[in-house]
Amino acid sequence: MSIPLSIKWEDGQLSILDQQKLPLVIHYLPLETLEDVYDAIITLKVRGAPAIGITAAYGLASAAQSYEVNSLEQFHQFLSRDALYLAESRPTAVNLAWALERLKASVQQSATVEEAKKHLLVEAMNIYEEDEASCRSIGEFSLSLLNDYTKVMTICNAGSIATAKYGTALAPFHLGSEQGKQFQVFACETRPVFQGARLTVWELQQSGVDVTLITDSMAAHTIGAKGIEAIIVGADRIAVNGDTANKIGTLNLALLAAAFQIPFYVAAPSSTFDLSIESGESIPIEERPSEEITHIAGKQVAPENTKVYNPAFDVTPGRLITAIITEKGIIYPEYTENISALIGTERGEK
Ligand code: MRU
Repeated sequence: MSIPLSIKWEDGQLSILDQQKLPLVIHYLPLETLEDVYDAIITLKVRGAPAIGITAAYGLASAAQSYEVNSLEQFHQFLSRDALYLAESRPTAVNLAWALERLKASVQQSATVEEAKKHLLVEAMNIYEEDEASCRSIGEFSLSLLNDYTKVMTICNAGSIATAKYGTALAPFHLGSEQGKQFQVFACETRPVFQGARLTVWELQQSGVDVTLITDSMAAHTIGAKGIEAIIVGADRIAVNGDTANKIGTLNLALLAAAFQIPFYVAAPSSTFDLSIESGESIPIEERPSEEITHIAGKQVAPENTKVYNPAFDVTPGRLITAIITEKGIIYPEYTENISALIGTERGEK
């Protein structure tokens, strides 16, 4: 039994577990150029908010090693240009812009180009290591919250392969497995691209967690029929008032949790909070190609020229969220006050 990892940095080479090929093929894809990194992110070969940020950080640090520049000023220009390019690959997960900003900030005090190149690599590694530690801590806090529950539902993949290790929403299940607590996890398949069926089921099987796959449309029935006791999901961006963007279908689960009167938890590191926005109304929602809906595994299932709407994320209002589990602790409503207190002050933003 082992917890799978999605990002590897070995001997100066970045490679990612190609999540498009999972679960049938386990292949680590080397990312040689900035364009490779952009392509891996936009085509969901690497996905999940923290994993996108970490991959972009390593990708930028790696690209910067070969900058041939005449001055530090030119180095900063190249770095900003490439950071902007990667930041545009996917709009919703704030971890991407956050990680790239951290890299840019890490070279502000560098005295030479060589020093700046080293600082970038160190910062990318720091982001990776901090995320692993954050996810472990989120797992421990989540385990304490889920202590009395066994049957838990989730959507998408907010797991180890969406982060440095352990995941966010899936971290309590991995840690529970290590510590002898056996959950029964119900994973929504997560249309249109099946992160639940392809990734969550595979990942939890790897660490010996009891996992049952359902289609998204079975969630309401399953909560009643199987006695689901809680729902836990990840996040791509959380506003100051607790409004949370996550994989499309998350809002459905939050509404169901309210109707069935079971707790609805969001698990996310502080890098997923966007304290520059007051509410979810300001969160950009990515719209993806229509083929993700009209085709399944490359096979057309809808008529030719079908009109499609394909938002990749939805926003769950803070009022539907029982608690937000972070590496720094568990945040309960009133969110505007409590998020600012726990996350805002840490970043010196309050
Ligand atoms: O489109 P994806 O697969 O990148 O969407 C991912 C999610 O919505 C996850 O729940 C979120 O990024 C949290 S990952 C720890």
